[in-house]
Amino acid sequence: MHPHQQSVTPRQQRSVTRITSGQRSQDGAGVNLTNYIPFPATLQLDPFLLLDVIKSDNANDYIKGFPPHPHRGFQTVTYLLAGRVRHRDSAGHSGLLQAGGVQWMTAGSGIEHSEIPEQESGLLFGFQLWLNLPAANKMQAPSYQDFEPAQIPEERRSPETKIRVITGTTAQGTTGPVKDIATSPQFFDVQLAEGGTYQETIPSEHTAFLFIIEGDVTVHGPISSAHITSNQLAVLSSGDKVSVEAASNSRFLLISGRPLHEPITRHGPFVMNTQEELVQAYRDYEAGNFGHVEGEP
Ligand code: FE2
Repeated sequence: MHPHQQSVTPRQQRSVTRITSGQRSQDGAGVNLTNYIPFPATLQLDPFLLLDVIKSDNANDYIKGFPPHPHRGFQTVTYLLAGRVRHRDSAGHSGLLQAGGVQWMTAGSGIEHSEIPEQESGLLFGFQLWLNLPAANKMQAPSYQDFEPAQIPEERRSPETKIRVITGTTAQGTTGPVKDIATSPQFFDVQLAEGGTYQETIPSEHTAFLFIIEGDVTVHGPISSAHITSNQLAVLSSGDKVSVEAASNSRFLLISGRPLHEPITRHGPFVMNTQEELVQAYRDYEAGNFGHVEGEP
């Protein structure tokens, strides 16, 4: 049989294999956040490298933001639910990310940027996800896919079931605007009313997880079910579909991606395949090869 040909097997429900409430952490110029990926243990969520969640209505937790810093070798995805963040980079790009919008940045060979909240009070609620790039793409030119809230399609399966599709395609055929990502991710923001059920297909080779934004849900696996509540991340087992029932009015992210199965050598803002490439990343950055964010020290 051709290796890419799928054999006909019964569809398999994914169940929950691990639940985490993350750990409080600090990054940037003193931004208080909760880190969910990487896990403290050895569990790998290839191709996902990091997930940080910022959620605070206390400006002291976020006001100083993330002053200029580099990235090389992967992608950063910023998805905001509340607040505004100004982004500026060493190539002269600048943009204001608003609630409901997404910025999908391919750092590739290297970029320096700053990410600073453009608000002095009120709620800031956002996600930053890092996705790895295959070795062959790590040194590609940096690029962006930025989308405003109105550019993200919302699929309605019932009056009370809404799916914002950022990237990937749902079981009902809605495709998100972020395209041509090496790891073919799905990134769906799902709202479900109490008692409602959401079923979605997930490519069987993908790593997948749920993050509960609000409410609480039950994930029905083939043998057992798991209950997950707000601010928890649930890793899903292998399989090709998931079934989520809302125990209360709920909102959650469903994220999946194709694992790369490549060696990872990472330190700080650089994620490469070998120690030599990591050392080279530091050398290139210190030599000024990434450029600098204009107007910043
Ligand atoms: Fe960054």
